[in-house]
Amino acid sequence: MPKIKQLYSAEQIQTRVKELGGEISEDYRKLPRPVVIGVMKGAFCFLADLVRNIETDDTLQVEFVRLASYGSASESSGQIQTPYLELPNIFNRHILVVEDIVDSGRTARFFLDYLEGQFKPASLKIASFLDKPSRRVVPVRADYVGFTINDLFVVGYGLDYGERYRELPYLGELSGVEATAP
Ligand code: IMP
Ligand code: MG
Repeated sequence: MPKIKQLYSAEQIQTRVKELGGEISEDYRKLPRPVVIGVMKGAFCFLADLVRNIETDDTLQVEFVRLASYGSASESSGQIQTPYLELPNIFNRHILVVEDIVDSGRTARFFLDYLEGQFKPASLKIASFLDKPSRRVVPVRADYVGFTINDLFVVGYGLDYGERYRELPYLGELSGVEATAP
């Protein structure tokens, strides 16, 4: 039987996202038209809350891509798929990538390298709702992190297990499931 144990409540998440929004506002305040790129699907809740807590002199541009790594429901494979990678011309802009979680680091590394190669950004940073540094396979450092967690499988607030549980308003640890897709 799948069991979900709450790790961070909706209120705790909102408080932390507000703090992160404040930090990002300070760093991006004076920059011209910062571009925020959300990595679907997992980042949809975080991005929606984060941008509403960012205040800059110029307004933000919000874009989305969809990246996926094939594999089982709870282990990424290392092969990055790009189901949607359409971006306008954002050459030489200040880019902030918004991720749900940096786990092995493969997805983030792939996307940072892609953006660097395609658009030579004026600056390129990552805001990730979660960081699991103990799982890192390729070197990536997230510049803004909501919560650093241990090697647990978590769901909710956008994160899924086999396309379930994304809608939960809190973050929970999932247990009692197979490591293969249901
Ligand atoms: P990566 O291993 O850093 O490339 O992360 C790949 C993707 O795996 C993330 O964007 C998430 O969608 C997913 N992922 C990694 N850890 C978890 C987790 O604990 N819960 C749900 N999804 C996860
Ligand atoms: Mg997933």
